[in-house]
Amino acid sequence: MKVTVVGAGAVGASCAEYIAIKNFASEVVLLDIKEGYAEGKAMDLMQCASLNGFDTKITGITNDYSKTANSDICVITSGIPRKPGMTREELIGINAGIVKSVSSSLIEHSPNTVLIVVSNPMDTMTYLVHKSTNLPKHKIIGMGGALDSARFKYRLAEALQAPISDVDGMVIGGHSDTGMVPLTSHATRNSIKVSEFLSKDRLQQVAEDTKVGGATLTKLLGTSAWYAPGAAVSGLVQAIACDQKKMFPCSTYLEGEYGLNDICIGVPVILGRNGIESIVNIELSAAEKAHMKESAEGVRKTNGLLDV
Ligand code: LAC
Repeated sequence: MKVTVVGAGAVGASCAEYIAIKNFASEVVLLDIKEGYAEGKAMDLMQCASLNGFDTKITGITNDYSKTANSDICVITSGIPRKPGMTREELIGINAGIVKSVSSSLIEHSPNTVLIVVSNPMDTMTYLVHKSTNLPKHKIIGMGGALDSARFKYRLAEALQAPISDVDGMVIGGHSDTGMVPLTSHATRNSIKVSEFLSKDRLQQVAEDTKVGGATLTKLLGTSAWYAPGAAVSGLVQAIACDQKKMFPCSTYLEGEYGLNDICIGVPVILGRNGIESIVNIELSAAEKAHMKESAEGVRKTNGLLDV
């Protein structure tokens, strides 16, 4: 199993680290445009192998896509991250050009790859890959919902004063401060709806804190987060590599599902060896449906800025 991660910045390096620590891939190629940077990160990570007990071989490459040939899974993290006060949408000008050229170089050398898009604005970047390459739609996956759901569970556990392992919940919709749709009506603590334990107002607060999860961290860190994004990507990569048929909310191209067409946005999907094995249709409450529609309008507005 060969996995390529493009972008050896904080998110890309965290992806490589978590993939290696989970020890399911034989090889991870880390590629960056900055001379020697990916090589350095890869060497540092490889020196963790004996300490953390993994056998995955991590190789660093400066911009030579031939070294990524025949990757089973490729992850695109390249582009500029958010600065405090910036929205993900404001990154489109620079990141669209980068994602377009990176995806085309990856597919040239790995025509059968499954591609995971992490660069922001993620739903629009996923749509761009869909429009500008010939990769089948089930092989183009946008990572946002897995991360947003992890942040939702963190906030739920905080509100419930419960361990996170007691809590389950999912965030669908666009990966943006206003577009996320935390499914509060479906969230549970040990299979009991969280609305049994939390007031409407407290649940609303959990949802609001979840939606600005990335912005909160960007303000604290001065740049966007990397540990949870890296861990979320590694979960997706593992589900695909190990054909787990696990459910995650991911950004995928919709053709009528959830009443939406010609858009990539977060919905629950099953991930396995083919990438997106199926899209899962769940019944949404009237409020969640309305929120999803609004979210799609926001994503479409950003898609409109693309030159495709
Ligand atoms: C975040 C970035 C990765 O939400 O979109 O932290």
